[in-house]
Amino acid sequence: MTAFYWTIFLLAALCRKTGGQFLDLKNITARDAFLSGTLPDGFLWGTATAAFQIEGGWDSGEKGPSIWDWYSHLPQNVPWGDVATDSYHKYKEDVQMHVNTSLNSYRFSISWPRLFPDGTNTTINQYGVDYYNNLINELQNNGIEPLVTLYHWDLPQKLKERYGGWVNDTLVEMFENYARFCFTTFGDRVKYWTTFNEPWSFVAALGDFNNDPDYTMKYKMAHNVIRAHARAWHTYDDDFRSAQNGSVGIVISSIWGEPADLHNPADRQAATNYMEFFFGWFANPIIGNGDYPDVMKRMVRESRLKQNQTVSPLPEFTEEEKMYNKGTTDFLGINTYTARIISATNETQTCHPDNHNFASACGFMPDLMGVKETVGPGWFYMGSNIFWFAPWNIRGILHFVRERYRYTKPFYLSEVGIGETYKYHSPPNLNDTWRMCFYMTYANEALKAVKLDGVDLRGFYAWTLMDNVEWGSGPDLAFGLYHTNFTHPSRKRTPKRSQGLYGSIARENGFPDNAIHVRMTREWWQWCHMDEAYAPTRHGYVEPTNKPAPCPSVSTAPAAQSLMFTGILGILVVLVAFCSP
Ligand code: BGC
Repeated sequence: MTAFYWTIFLLAALCRKTGGQFLDLKNITARDAFLSGTLPDGFLWGTATAAFQIEGGWDSGEKGPSIWDWYSHLPQNVPWGDVATDSYHKYKEDVQMHVNTSLNSYRFSISWPRLFPDGTNTTINQYGVDYYNNLINELQNNGIEPLVTLYHWDLPQKLKERYGGWVNDTLVEMFENYARFCFTTFGDRVKYWTTFNEPWSFVAALGDFNNDPDYTMKYKMAHNVIRAHARAWHTYDDDFRSAQNGSVGIVISSIWGEPADLHNPADRQAATNYMEFFFGWFANPIIGNGDYPDVMKRMVRESRLKQNQTVSPLPEFTEEEKMYNKGTTDFLGINTYTARIISATNETQTCHPDNHNFASACGFMPDLMGVKETVGPGWFYMGSNIFWFAPWNIRGILHFVRERYRYTKPFYLSEVGIGETYKYHSPPNLNDTWRMCFYMTYANEALKAVKLDGVDLRGFYAWTLMDNVEWGSGPDLAFGLYHTNFTHPSRKRTPKRSQGLYGSIARENGFPDNAIHVRMTREWWQWCHMDEAYAPTRHGYVEPTNKPAPCPSVSTAPAAQSLMFTGILGILVVLVAFCSP
């Protein structure tokens, strides 16, 4: 009999290890129910932007070029970043747009080559220092909390030319110098810093514009990025924290990899491996044990052995470095837009998509084995087939991170947004009902993460303030709460309908029952969970209909009580199962 109980105990422990990190979000009615209520006091509501995407003034003052300036000036490209949304000149208007949207925070990034034209502190561009001082002061004067990203992909071009970019160890020290300068110069007013925005994206997907088909350089780049992050965090911790009393985090992105069958251990394991390669690559060294995930180390080694490569291209951290990496974040910023369904295949197969109707991340994870990626039946895509409507990914990923890494510090949703394909010279889509639906549903999931799952979430940042330069796509994929007129030299900005809605969510700190936007949200709710709500994002410009979303009296789905009831019932069932002789 004792053996029986031990077996049950071990099974339960195992089950918790592999399954406890996945929230059961398979009951669609419960999952998609609207929840009313507010976020905790002091919650930060903001927008997020990135220097290259908005600043312009690409060679103003003594600014040096970034790798994105170099790229956008190639003959086949259009240098949209030269003026971008002209925020270098219009920063006061950017701040007023936050005020008009009732926001209390702004996440922007500093352009490294605007401060250090050649990437090193041998010359400092005083115009750049003045620009960021002015912006920060303007925010402070308007009661808006800055959250500042040190690196949103715009590496000084000189560091690429001289050292090859992040692949070179020298960059770790260069980044430390740059971070130290920012802490010294702006840290009296900036209390929230993040080192890197989405390392996965600029390493795996971009690779500093290096041609690296076998991924050796990318693994090396990532290694230096993690070391640079740890260095910047320690610099702040050792030399600035006691005087400035701020915090330093990192922004990590991930698509939420949801197991196809929650009750199938192989699918759960495949989804875990997918998340480890996507999220854990950068997260495990920082919030885990200081090292790369075990599964990553094993799979990279085994997949390369199959190609007769006897040395794994994944670099190793020394024991000292692991200790140094571990715990180097005061909070985590998570950028999450979408989800994928993950199922297990044989480990002899490399990660691959189920079909070609969606943009798969597998191509960027060439050493991940035994994983098949797809999107759910009945999901709909928004603007680009990377982004599929899956608001529950917010709860899925926050819960996963907390459980898998035993992470107990605060979270910020540092980017959440929806884009639409759009021709910059077309009339604006100001009646963006799809974006209203998006923020109604995604912000409501943030509320659920706090209220239903007990996550310590402290902020929500909409991507993005105004239509901007969407990297290689220029202004043709528009994510803004404000429309930017890219045909107009002064880049006139006009609020879209979603700006009012998002502002109302921020002003009311969520979805309190008596708020006007809550009545509207309830009426729109069912329609917001239908493909037709997002169809215009894929079609380019559509005539605004001027009529609100067609949502007659829609009966609201069973809300929190039903979720709680399901939860209690679930616990009872488990208890009965475990306690029966
Ligand atoms: C990036 C942004 C980008 C957005 C939409 C995020 O991954 O941080 O810079 O514009 O996605 O593609």
